[in-house]
Amino acid sequence: MSTYSNMPIKKIAISTGGGDAPGLNAVIRAAALSAILRGWEVYGVRDGFHGILSPEEYPDGAFIPLTRKRVSGITHLGGTILGTSNRNNPLRYPITRSDGTIEEVDRTDEIVRGFRLHHIDALITVGGDGSLEIANVLAKKGLRLISVPKTIDNDLDKTDVTFGFDTAVGFATEALDRLHSTAASHGRVMVVEVMGRYAGWIALQSGVAGSADVILIPEHPYDIHKVLEKIKDREEHGDNFTIVVVAEGASPIGGGVSVVETEAGKAERLGGIGEKVAADIHEISGKETRLVVLGHLLRGGSPTSFDRLTALRFGAAAVRGLEEGHAGVMVALDPPQVKYVPIEEAMGKMKMVPMNSDIVLTAKDLGISFG
Ligand code: F6P
Repeated sequence: MSTYSNMPIKKIAISTGGGDAPGLNAVIRAAALSAILRGWEVYGVRDGFHGILSPEEYPDGAFIPLTRKRVSGITHLGGTILGTSNRNNPLRYPITRSDGTIEEVDRTDEIVRGFRLHHIDALITVGGDGSLEIANVLAKKGLRLISVPKTIDNDLDKTDVTFGFDTAVGFATEALDRLHSTAASHGRVMVVEVMGRYAGWIALQSGVAGSADVILIPEHPYDIHKVLEKIKDREEHGDNFTIVVVAEGASPIGGGVSVVETEAGKAERLGGIGEKVAADIHEISGKETRLVVLGHLLRGGSPTSFDRLTALRFGAAAVRGLEEGHAGVMVALDPPQVKYVPIEEAMGKMKMVPMNSDIVLTAKDLGISFG
C-alpha cells in the first residue's frame, strides 16, 4: 500500500542512481521546475546516494542547488548532471576489513539521517530495479519519497516503458542499418551484441526494426545449429550475408549467461556472448564473421523526443504526487496516463519479452530466426 503524508513541503532532493539512461536530465529539469513553481527549494544529490554517505568527498558540496538556471538547457543532454553510480549499493555496502575480507553492511539508516540533517522534506529517486529496492527500504524507514523508473533495458514491471529505451533501440537500429551495406559487400556474417541485461527488449525491437535475420534473446535459449540453418537458407536464396543481433543476456540451450565481472555491492556485468556466437558460426560454417559490441554507446547521446517527453512527464508527476501526499510509490506510464504504483508491487519483478507477443510473432512472420 502506498502511504500518504500531508505535511507541507519546503525542500526536496533528487538523486539519480544506477546506470545512466538518456532522459535523466529531463526528469531533473521537470522535477526542479515543478518544485520551484510550488515555492519549494530543490537540491540534487551527487552520484546517487554517495553524496549523502560520503559528503567529505565533495569539497564543493554534496548537494547541488537546482535553480532555474542550473536546469536550463539540459533536456536534450544524455547522462545526468548529478552523477550516478551502480556500485556500492547502500543495502549491501562493501567494507574492506583489515584482514582483506569484504563485509557487506546496510547503510540506509545513515541516508535517512543525512536527509533529516539537511531538512529535506521529501526525495525523488530516479533509478532502476536496484534503486527501487533501496527506495523501498528508505520509505519504510520513514523517508517521504517517490521513485521514477529508469533503464535502457525496459525490464521494469508495472510501467509500460522506461525512458532511455527508445533512444537505445533507435541507436541500435541505425547501427544495423549501417552494417547491412558492409555485410553485403563482403558477404559476411555480422554479429551485433546489444545491452539489455537479462531481458531481450533492445535486441528484439532493434532487430525487427533494423531487419536482422537472427535475433537471440535471453527469453529463448538458442541452438547454434538453427542459426547456421538460417545462414545457409539465406545463401540458398542468394543472400550471401547475415545480420545476427545478440542480447548480452542470451545463452545457448543448456549453457549459462556470459558474465565478465562480479563485484561486491554491484550487479554482475554481462558480456561476451556475441564473441561466442561469432566464433561458433565461423568455426562450424567457415563463414567470415565479424563482431560489433554496441555496449555503452546505447546509453549515450541525446534522448529521442519520446524519451524526453516520458522523462519530463515522470519528473513533473513525481512532484505532483508528492504535493498530493503520495509516498512510497513509483510513477509509471499506463498510456495515456501516468499513474502511481506502490514501489513494493513494482520492484523485484523483471519484465521479460513474452515469446507469444505481437512483436515476436511479427518477427517470425518476417522469417527472422530466434535460434
Ligand atoms: O542496466 C543498464 C545497463 O546498461 C545494462 O544493459 C548493462 O548490462 C549494464 O547496465 C552495464 O553496466 P555498467 O555501466 O556497469 O557497465
